[in-house]
Amino acid sequence: MVSTQALEAQNTGRQYLTDITPERSPNQSLVPLTAKVNDRDHLEIGGCDVTDLVQQFGSPLYILDEASLRTACHQYRDAFKRYYPGESQVLYASKAWNCLAICAIVAQEKLGIDIVSGGELYTALKAGVDPSKLYLHGNNKSLDELNLAIESGCTVIVDNWLELQTIASLNRQNVRIMLRLTPGIECHTHEYIRTGHLDSKFGFDPNQVDEVLKFVSGQPTLSFVGVHAHIGSQIFELQPHQDLGGVMVQWLSKAAQYGLSISELNIGGGLGIRYTESDDPPSIDQWVKVVCESVAAACQAENIPLPKLLSEPGRSLVGTTCVTAYTVGGQKTIPGIRTYLSVDGGMSDNPRPITYQSLYRAIVANRMSEPMTETVTIAGKHCESGDILIKDATLPPTQPGDTLVVMATGAYNYSMSSNYNRLARPAAVLVGNGNATLILQRETYEDLIRYDRLPAHLK
Ligand code: LLP
Repeated sequence: MVSTQALEAQNTGRQYLTDITPERSPNQSLVPLTAKVNDRDHLEIGGCDVTDLVQQFGSPLYILDEASLRTACHQYRDAFKRYYPGESQVLYASKAWNCLAICAIVAQEKLGIDIVSGGELYTALKAGVDPSKLYLHGNNKSLDELNLAIESGCTVIVDNWLELQTIASLNRQNVRIMLRLTPGIECHTHEYIRTGHLDSKFGFDPNQVDEVLKFVSGQPTLSFVGVHAHIGSQIFELQPHQDLGGVMVQWLSKAAQYGLSISELNIGGGLGIRYTESDDPPSIDQWVKVVCESVAAACQAENIPLPKLLSEPGRSLVGTTCVTAYTVGGQKTIPGIRTYLSVDGGMSDNPRPITYQSLYRAIVANRMSEPMTETVTIAGKHCESGDILIKDATLPPTQPGDTLVVMATGAYNYSMSSNYNRLARPAAVLVGNGNATLILQRETYEDLIRYDRLPAHLK
């Protein structure tokens, strides 16, 4: 039975709020868990009116809901406790959004962090994250990055022969390493974000497992802790991760044959999120259950002890916890073709639509109960025809100055943002219990020329 409330919400911005139910994980709700419509008929997140936030902090604005992020963290943590009989550690894949505040929140929630560069490592350290919970990735780590990671006490996830030989030649004691292998598992996601199939730039080829393990077993300075694999991102199927558990346990079993201790297995990330109402990803609980059961069953079959089970979710922790608020500008109607509605940001704050043809949904924060009767194309402000945030957005009629909110922008938006056309990056606020705190300051024009140098002969 559809409730009267749900019926009234149909065809208005309120319809997206019906995603929020106690049974759903944050990754299954298009809007942050604290999203509400207040008595001004405005969208509210974390107890803050979104139009007020834009007034106070400017536009565009990333708005991150602290409660949703913490809920996603503890859902992962609790599910591993529930389903895995051994030890576990969730690592936040911070490439999804690396900044001081997010690193600090996830660390408070007892997560470790996956980092992929000296810059991400530096940020996590500055946020006070315990280095023993930091894992450094990358297919071409520089010597500086390796040294910083090793000196800080991070674990290095070794990706290839050159790196393995480089680390061995550094002659440092007890360097904690994991080996990244390519499992040869296909999953259905965008080609650019698939990493587990054999034709991938990441990881050792599985045919080389014996050779690599043998080499590692002969290196007294390396402390081998286990194996890693990551098969891709925005994955809705559970089968690939179930298969992955089995494949990885076989690698561990091989490592044991070479006399290596097999303490950790890192199964990567990849769980998808809801960007549109047709996206129906599994819950965090369902994903974790499959991973745990698959690893535990494979260990039993191979008769090896349970390793500490690590995972690296990024998108499913942070993706739906954030929205981006823009201010509506002009409209251009081309009769019989389309109406373009321009906003004050675009591909520089969200490069995903132009890069991956990713789909998003939008609502008008100050018109939450108005029927969505128009189909418009939401255009960014960049000098590029492809700078389209949403091709066919259904919205109520809008006016310049309205606050347009694009949902599920927490993952790979800020972290992939640019200054294209010399646009300053937006600010980001953390909201909760009616308070908003700045976590990323808006860039200024001065910031944009900070690294420019004008040679003397041009002055
Ligand atoms: N671990 C490794 C080794 C990874 O490469 C990734 C993502 C993750 C974990 C986290 O995956 P997640 O849980 O977020 O799916 N820029 C693309 C996504 C690239 C993903 C890169 N690796 C996008 O915007 O869709």
